[in-house]
Formats: sequence, C-alpha cells, structure tokens
Amino acid sequence: MNKLSYLNMNRCISDNIFTLISDFAQKSGVEAYVIGGYVRDCLLGRKNDKKDIDILVRGSGIDLAKKVAAGISSKIKVTVYKNFGTAMFRAGGHIIEFVGARKESYSSDSRKPLVEDGNLEDDQNRRDFTINAMAISLNKESYGQLIDPFKGIEDLEKKIIRTPLEPGRTFSDDPLRMLRAIRFASQLGFSIHPDTFESIKENAGRISIVSYERITTELNKILMSPEPSRGFSLLYDSKLLEIILPEVYMLKGVDKKEKHGHKDNFDHTMQVVDNVSQKSDSLWLRWAALLHDIAKPVTKKYIEGTGWTFHGHEFIGSKMVPGIFKRLKLPMGDSMKYVKKLVALHLRPIILSQDSVTDSAVRRLLFDAGDDIDDLMMLCEADITSKNEKKIRQHLSNFRLVRQKLREIEQKDHIRNFQPPIDGNEIIKMFDLKPGREVGDLKDSIKEAILDGIIPNEYEAAKDFLIKKAAEMGLRPSSG
Ligand code: CTP
Repeated sequence: MNKLSYLNMNRCISDNIFTLISDFAQKSGVEAYVIGGYVRDCLLGRKNDKKDIDILVRGSGIDLAKKVAAGISSKIKVTVYKNFGTAMFRAGGHIIEFVGARKESYSSDSRKPLVEDGNLEDDQNRRDFTINAMAISLNKESYGQLIDPFKGIEDLEKKIIRTPLEPGRTFSDDPLRMLRAIRFASQLGFSIHPDTFESIKENAGRISIVSYERITTELNKILMSPEPSRGFSLLYDSKLLEIILPEVYMLKGVDKKEKHGHKDNFDHTMQVVDNVSQKSDSLWLRWAALLHDIAKPVTKKYIEGTGWTFHGHEFIGSKMVPGIFKRLKLPMGDSMKYVKKLVALHLRPIILSQDSVTDSAVRRLLFDAGDDIDDLMMLCEADITSKNEKKIRQHLSNFRLVRQKLREIEQKDHIRNFQPPIDGNEIIKMFDLKPGREVGDLKDSIKEAILDGIIPNEYEAAKDFLIKKAAEMGLRPSSG
C-alpha cells in the first residue's frame, strides 16, 4: 500500500448505498461518515463482501437509518438499540449500522455506555486503534475524503497496532481492547506498538471484568488467524493468557533433572496449532490442537533413569475439555465432544505407527474415531514436531503406512460408522431375554469379535457367533 490510497478512497465508497446515505444525510441536515473496520479493510484490500459497514452520524443515527432504509425499500426492517443510540439494517449483502457520534461511551468500571453527543473528532478519539479510527466523509462538500487524525494509514503501512490516545485510557474504556489488539496483530500479521503493549501488560488484570462470551469471540478469531501462534505468544507475553486460559499458560517451561529435560509443551503446542492451521480451516480442529496436551503439566512425573513421563495425559486431558469449554462459554454439544474425542485419541495413530500395524488395531482406531478419523490423522501428523529430521521422516513414512492400512480395512470391513449387524432388540427376541446386562454383553461380544477380525462384519457370521456365545452363557434361542 502507498500514498495512492488517498486517491483511491472513492473505490471504498463506490457502492450505491454510500450515495444514498450521502443524499439522505444532506436532506436531513446531518453529517455522515463511514468509519472503522470497513475503511481499514478496504485500505488493506481485504475481501469484505459481507463486511459490516459502520456509519457515524453527527446527529441522530436512528433517524438517518430509518430514512435510508425506507429509501431503499419499505420492506427493510430496521433494528433500533435506543440505549446505544444505534440502528441497523441489512441491504445488498451488508449489515449497515448507524451510530450517533459520541464523546465518552463507557464508565470506568463497567461497559455501561454513558452516551453524550459529540462530533467526529470525539468519536475517533474513543475508538480502539488508529487503524480503526479512520473515517471517509459522505458529506457533499468533502465526499470521499479520508479523515485520519491519528495517522492510521501510516500504521497500516508500517503494520502497527496502536491506540489513538494514551493506551491506559483506551483500555480502561473497554479492557476487551487488549485482546482485540492481539487478535488484530495475529489476524493481520501486525506488531503491537511497544507503548501499547506495555500498557496491556500493566492492565492485563482488568480483563477479568469482561464476559467470557466476548473473550472467547476474540480467542476464536486468534485461533482462526493464519498463524495462531503469533497471537498466543502475545497472549503469553502480555500476561493475559494466565488469566483467561491458565491451562494453556501452564504448558510453558522445561524441567531438568539428571540431564533429562522435556520439550517446552507450550512451544510444542503452538507448533501443532500452526501445523493444523496450514491444513485445515476447522475452528474445532484448531481447538483440539490447542488442548491436545493440556494435561501434561498435571501428569508430569520424573522416573529415575528413564526421564520425564506424562502418562495418561490424553485421557485426563480429554476429561478437562468440558470444564474449559464451559468456562469459556463455548458450545457444549457436538463441537465439545469432537474436541474431547480428538484429545483422547491423539496418541493412537502414532502408537499404531510405531508398533506393527495389525488389522485389528486399525479396526479399533476406525471404530473409535468414526467420521473424525481424517481429522485425527491430521492432528497426529501435526503433532510430530521433533527437531530431528530423520525422526520426522521416519514417522511420516510410518504414517503413510497407517493411512494406507486405514483405507484398505475401511474398504474391506466398513468399520467407520459401524453398528454390529445384530442389535440389542434382535438379541432380546432371539433368546427371549429382558433388557439388561446380558443383552449388552452379547452385543459387545459381537462387536469385539468383528474388531478383532474373528468374524467378518456380516449378519450370518454374527448370528452363528452369537448363538455359540449365548450357549456358553447357558442360553438357547427361543423357538419363536
Ligand atoms: N471498536 C472499538 N472498541 C471496541 C470494539 C469496536 O473502538 N471494543 C470500534 C472500532 O473502531 C472498530 C469498530 O468499532 O473498527 C467496529 O467494531 P467491530 O465490528 O467489533 O470490529 P471491526 O473493526 O469491524 O473488525 P472485525 O469485523 O474483524 O471484528
């Protein structure tokens, strides 16, 4: 980007909606500007087809929103937030929000807005970062002019996140902004200005007044950035991590005894998260990568002569997942179960690739992982972060073997979404049983026999096996 951006401002407001807003603003005798993320992203050339457009109005934002919406179509529904003096509607694939210019908007100990009318400059003063405080005029006499009092455009060129005012003040207006600074740095590949970062460190404790819903929105955005480790390192250095995700913070550090050290599990986790992020856009796979070794600190033991062990960390780690999700207000349904499962199984493919790859071990892995087998393999491959090139090559080649075996067995036995060919109801009928433990045991024995390769995954074979198994338990098929 270069100074040409000044001349290119019109390209950011070429959509008809801007001329419409401009016309209605003039008719109503109010000033209007497009401001914030839309301007930033347009200057950065980021794709923003679906981008929210924030319109700052000197006067009533609600009135102007209603007029513009009615001007487009009588069918458009305008949502009004009276307390905040804002209104929004959807049009042309955009969400357009109208805000009246304000002076101070937050009291110092909560996010409760104290609305007071202000001008453009007042409003820009109270924005979070210089790159988010730029506005483009939609007023007739200055249409298309960039108003950038804090040199946001220079910060965009230098890739710097910096607060417009003294950072302590900007952060005390809304402590979530400390996390937003890190999120933007991670998303855009920017650095945080040293003064701004110092202030985050000083004020980190204030994040505790922010709700977990808002914190988690930012955490998810950090995880979805191209190189999430960038954001997490900043979270670590700023001391925010130990407050919002102490479990991940605890991964940091190396213990040494009798020349035995272990990997720094935080650095390792970061590498794993970056590795999966290069291969997949799945937020939940990235969460699984972030949490895969979460129980290493609590399971760490030193064994004389052997070194450090983290025995059972995958099971204990998977048990920690629901608590972490709950605290972070992340969804507790399928996404949580998926992360829990991947954490629990994350060692299985690697163990398999080190042992001889038997059919029955592959079947068991397919059965336990189900449809998530590909993601599990991706996580497991990403988990190989040794510095020893030879070791990595060896692992990866073993992995190819496991993948090949997985394909072969799946084609042959269809285990992925496997249900034993005889279900509990049929067993009840066949032996005239009451629902209970015996039925479960018999059903399990069929499943185990198929997974172990004792019988094929077919009805007749399962039936013969079941009859034999039941006979051992003293049961005979009922005549009916
Ligand atoms: N803003 C702020 N302080 C906040 C949140 C938002 O000053 N805590 C201002 C910024 O000027 C920001 C604008 O409100 O640009 C819109 O906020 P939001 O929609 O949350 O973020 P965007 O900057 O649009 O970025 P993104 O859509 O990526 O979240």
